Amino acid sequence: MLIFKTIAETQSACAQLRGEGRILGLVPTMGALHEGHLSLVRAARAVCDVVAVSIFVNPTQFGPTEDFSKYPRTFEDDCALLKQEGVDLIFAPTVDEMYPAGASTFVLVEGVSDRLDGASRPGHFRGVTTVVSKLFHITKPHKAFFGQKDAAQVAVLRKMVRDLNFPLQLVVCPIVRESDGLALNSRNRYLSPEERQKALVLHRALEKVKDAGAGGETSAQKLVAAARDVFAEEPSVRVDYIAVVDPDTLEEVPDVRSGALVAVAAFVGTTRLIDNIVL
Ligand code: PAJ
Repeated sequence: MLIFKTIAETQSACAQLRGEGRILGLVPTMGALHEGHLSLVRAARAVCDVVAVSIFVNPTQFGPTEDFSKYPRTFEDDCALLKQEGVDLIFAPTVDEMYPAGASTFVLVEGVSDRLDGASRPGHFRGVTTVVSKLFHITKPHKAFFGQKDAAQVAVLRKMVRDLNFPLQLVVCPIVRESDGLALNSRNRYLSPEERQKALVLHRALEKVKDAGAGGETSAQKLVAAARDVFAEEPSVRVDYIAVVDPDTLEEVPDVRSGALVAVAAFVGTTRLIDNIVL
């Protein structure tokens, strides 16, 4: 397994790996890897000849009061896990390597970047699209793998790939959960045991919405109300948003008859968690 910190080495190794018609898959991550990340690696392994994983805690997608400096960094453990999964290359640049002094070019997908997490975290998606564009240019993958857990991120990146004609296929993988339903998240390790218990309210609220949908309820307003009732059972958990939206535009829809994304974000203590289901 190759491990590179520089763009130049990664560019040339990826060019070589892609050689002879081999299909290259990229899994972008911020490290602190868990089974959710590994599910993307396995999906890539299954359909690609060579798999590259990036590990980079990207400062441009964190707000000034967010957790960039305390974001978990577990590089040695991450490398060991990726080696077990048969990954071919890890790209783990420093911040200076990715953003040398004076770097001032950003990629912004207008509109969709201001919705859901983009509304709560101004500038977040500009950071994501900028770094993912750079990763695409550096590795030039045939396929890039992302998790449905970050459904708004998927919508933004899909649009970016389309608008900027990136010659690659974006593959979206299902949400991996703990046995009790909590979506795996690198930030779950911030939760105390009591908070970990309270965090289950996100999943419970979405299950309630799913049941209501299965029972024939199509009104977005009523589905949101059903979710809010469940959140009311955990008053210490502060809801950021509960939204019923079009999965591509992230614009609110009044009913779910033609398919909708139901997305929630909430603070459990100081930890912000997200989850979603597609109806
Ligand atoms: P990170 O939060 O490390 O997530 C990396 C990838 O793993 C994302 O595509 C995310 O959706 C996926 N993932 C995380 N938890 C998952 C789960 N429980 N089930 C399935 N997939 C899961 O997302 C980012 O990093 C960054 O924004 C990044 C795209 C790397 C750009 O910096």
